[in-house]
Amino acid sequence: MKFEFSENMKNIKPSEIRALLKYIHMPGMISFGGGLPNPETFPDEELKNILNDIMENYAASALQYGQTDGLPELKEQLTGYLKADENISVSPENIMITTGSQQALYALPIVFANRGDYGIIEAPTYVGMISSLNANGIKSTSIDLDENGMKTDELEDRLKTMRSMNIKPKFIYTIPTFQNPAGYTMPLDRRKHLLELAEQYNIPIIEDNPYGDLRYSGKKLPTLKSMDNNGLVTYLGTFSKIMAPGLRTGFTVSQPEVLTEFNKLKQALDLATDSLSQYIAYEYIRKGIIYKQIPKTIELYKKKRDIMLEALDDDMKNATWSRPDGGMFLWVQLPKEMNALKMLERAIANKVAYVTGSAFYHNDPELNTMRLNFTYSGDEEIKDGIKRLAKTIEEEKASL
Ligand SMILES: Cc1ncc(COP(=O)(O)O)c(C=O)c1O
Repeated sequence: MKFEFSENMKNIKPSEIRALLKYIHMPGMISFGGGLPNPETFPDEELKNILNDIMENYAASALQYGQTDGLPELKEQLTGYLKADENISVSPENIMITTGSQQALYALPIVFANRGDYGIIEAPTYVGMISSLNANGIKSTSIDLDENGMKTDELEDRLKTMRSMNIKPKFIYTIPTFQNPAGYTMPLDRRKHLLELAEQYNIPIIEDNPYGDLRYSGKKLPTLKSMDNNGLVTYLGTFSKIMAPGLRTGFTVSQPEVLTEFNKLKQALDLATDSLSQYIAYEYIRKGIIYKQIPKTIELYKKKRDIMLEALDDDMKNATWSRPDGGMFLWVQLPKEMNALKMLERAIANKVAYVTGSAFYHNDPELNTMRLNFTYSGDEEIKDGIKRLAKTIEEEKASL
């Protein structure tokens, strides 16, 4: 049969990152390209015990369809966790359990915007939001980042300009803490400014915080959601980086009226998030394992971040890079004349891989950028990989 695919599908580009995953398995390759948590952080033994308990005590409901908004016991546990962890005071009616936070990235733009409407995003930003915008025909305007995250002065100017053109952006998407891909964190004054602007212009904020628990240095900052007195912020969390990404369990915290709309869409997406995973997440919090596991993950990742930063300081000449206080990534900027996508072939020949920064822009990509993941590779691999990358950059620069 000759299939005719929809116009819609033409807007959805295959993920450059997924394509890169194949290089991870090439013999001798050191890949900083994926965004994978390190399997050493997976609490396998604890999850084995939890699974046994679930099968003994709640098999009938853990294997059954569940409510669209999520397992009530998990929502209840999450209220305690959000209060303890992020000083976010909410009740279960403010929570929707999602199939990974990616499901919320897909759904929320549809909840807030029509096709052809504008959302405001960061440049660079997380690819999962870019895919969602493309899949849903939503346009974006991008606000640049500096080492303090989204430039809120630029946002203010953009909002003024858009208002003068009679364009109302329908949401602002931000990853204020240990941003993916750049690793930057927005300080308190910018957080306040962002909230003021959102209130002034009456625009909902989508705050994506998958990495907030993974801080290796510096002082903890309040989430936008914890500072939000006006119900402006819809907050996305996930168990992917603090338990295991394969369980695909995330959560959205918002006003009940937003979740009611999301609920209608989720019924079309998957009816409900996997019940078994939700029971696992529930027990993971209830038994307090989460609070023991996070410090172990931090210890492992802090060491790896430090190794990568030291290797960059020692070996890298023709680039600048972010120095993240947490998360999983750092952002490398090459001289303007260089193109990280063109250089990738040389890098692969030198047996090192990265994701080109251009994958993280919805508009006007900066071609001289790349994202490095520091959580997945072994310690020695990180050192060798940075040497290989530095050599690749030198060779490429000499060839221009
Ligand atoms: C910024 C950001 N948002 C959302 C996600 C999606 O996470 P998940 O769907 O596993 O919860 C990721 C995953 O890497 C991410 O980096």
